[in-house]
Amino acid sequence: MCGIVGYIGNKKAVPILINGLLSLEYRGYDSAGIAVLNSFNNTYKIDFVKDKGRVKVLQDNKDLELLQGNVGIAHTRWATHGSPSKENAHPHLDNSKTFAVVHNGIIENYLELKQKLLDNGYILYSETDTEVIPNLIHLNYKGDILQAISKTLKELKGSYAIEVISPLFPDKIIVAKKDSPLVIGIKDDEKFIASDIPAALSHTNKFYFLDEEEIGIIEQNSVKFFDIDLNEIQKDIKNIDWDAESSEKNGFEDYMLKEIFEQPNAIRETIGSRVSLDKNVNLELDDIDFKNFNKIYIVACGTAMHAGIAAKYSFEKFCKIPTEVDMASEFRYRSPLIDEHTLCIFITQSGETADTIAALKLAKSLGSTTISIVNVMGSSITRISDYTLYTHAGPEIAVASTKAYVCQVTLLNILAIYISERLGIENSDLNIFKQSLLELPEKVKDVLTTIDTIKEIASHVYNQRDLYFIGRGADYAVSMEGSLKLKEISYIHSEAYAAGELKHGPIALIENGVTVIAIATNPNIYEKTLSNLEESITRGANSILVTNQRIINDKINYIINIPEINPILSPIISIVPLQLFAYFIAKNKKLDVDKPRNLAKSVTVE
Ligand code: M6R
Repeated sequence: MCGIVGYIGNKKAVPILINGLLSLEYRGYDSAGIAVLNSFNNTYKIDFVKDKGRVKVLQDNKDLELLQGNVGIAHTRWATHGSPSKENAHPHLDNSKTFAVVHNGIIENYLELKQKLLDNGYILYSETDTEVIPNLIHLNYKGDILQAISKTLKELKGSYAIEVISPLFPDKIIVAKKDSPLVIGIKDDEKFIASDIPAALSHTNKFYFLDEEEIGIIEQNSVKFFDIDLNEIQKDIKNIDWDAESSEKNGFEDYMLKEIFEQPNAIRETIGSRVSLDKNVNLELDDIDFKNFNKIYIVACGTAMHAGIAAKYSFEKFCKIPTEVDMASEFRYRSPLIDEHTLCIFITQSGETADTIAALKLAKSLGSTTISIVNVMGSSITRISDYTLYTHAGPEIAVASTKAYVCQVTLLNILAIYISERLGIENSDLNIFKQSLLELPEKVKDVLTTIDTIKEIASHVYNQRDLYFIGRGADYAVSMEGSLKLKEISYIHSEAYAAGELKHGPIALIENGVTVIAIATNPNIYEKTLSNLEESITRGANSILVTNQRIINDKINYIINIPEINPILSPIISIVPLQLFAYFIAKNKKLDVDKPRNLAKSVTVE
């Protein structure tokens, strides 16, 4: 949560920082601020502008013109400690205005540190945890800035990615990180610091990734790294093959719509050369002995967890290994029964989700083998996990995840086939299943043609108060994801139920005017779901059906027809109309679909 950017080079910093902030706004958008080192007669001082509201508010602030320097740091906030306000916005300066800091993360012991500062005569002006950092640096500064920063970092408990500037070192930005992401883009005599790669992609494809408790000293022409004890360390530059265009809207009204339409290609890229007919699946997991495992855990949060639920069926069918799916925030606190015979699979778009990282660390500490399915290259989880498989969805900017989900489900299915083949399990259906997988990009393209029908349906139901999604098996998994999408961006109350459960309680909620959306794609059980939908219609519900079966039923208000596919893969197709449905409902309500209230793209707090 929160986005930070920094620039040091030969250009004016502010326009570059503003662009960086705009491309990171998905990480938080409660308030924003910029600090630069301005010089006058070779004397430097920190000047800053900050305010409550989005980056646009900052952009329109006339005082920005006063920030002329070419060394600067900037921040867009997702409030944790202290409400969104000008005082709580970053940057925060120490009392002497010698150090300016922007911070992403949470300092858990800030109250204790605050007391220490108060005892030493400091005054703290904001309600934030961050303000202790510049003041502690000041307190610890005895002429050697690196010593002061190292000492300060050792006092902090919690997570941080920070940037520090000061007139004491006008040609440097000092950065450090622990449990919050930070990358440094390199281009000749310019350096671009950011929380996420997309913020610097229009400048460079070459990045350094800061690791845990590392410090970087960034200058126009050099970058040096140290561990927290100030031993110098060497790092490799990584080339990132995302292009800058993939982080732009490309003529679409919103990132979410663009990303929904990118799904066929994202799936194609994720399949890549991993799957081909009459050959075994190719994944770089050759040194794992899958015979060793008697249990699989799939662990993730939000949409990524829904991808796990959708793919569970595939692991049980093809690998014949009991598979459980759990949310990371629960898994880590319930002493899961795992050991070296457990395979733990973690799913994450950002690779930075705090709950997922904690669950991964727990699984490793208990001796299990860990594989992570990740979208963002070089992100924290890729560096902790034993093995990483990348979804190739490209940058996902909209807070509501869409293309990452379909790629996660696709890759999990590929992994299930891979494990099945490595275990030598006979399955005559496997080649047919691979054929279905390879057809996915075209089928998702077909389902996107339902856009006008869905836009029309959304225009009739956008002012509803309650909506229920029902389905069985993989259709139930999709119901959960469809319901989450709707909640996130339209703020309509919605729940998902296994269709068969409706009659065991929730049906009491069905009355005139409530809308029930049924997903029924499995030829073996769709009729059961239809009966459950009819039970709702009988009690006054409006009804929408998403199906790949030929159904004529004039009691159902709207039927959305989608292409047929193997039932195990159907979530990848049937989620698309539900994504569009949520999108058009939010558009009808004139909401900001890309930046829904209270949310942020990357949830780096617990
Ligand atoms: O980056 P991750 O995939 O780990 O994020 C997990 C969830 O926070 C994320 O899927 C969240 O639920 C999205 N906003 C869903 O649209």
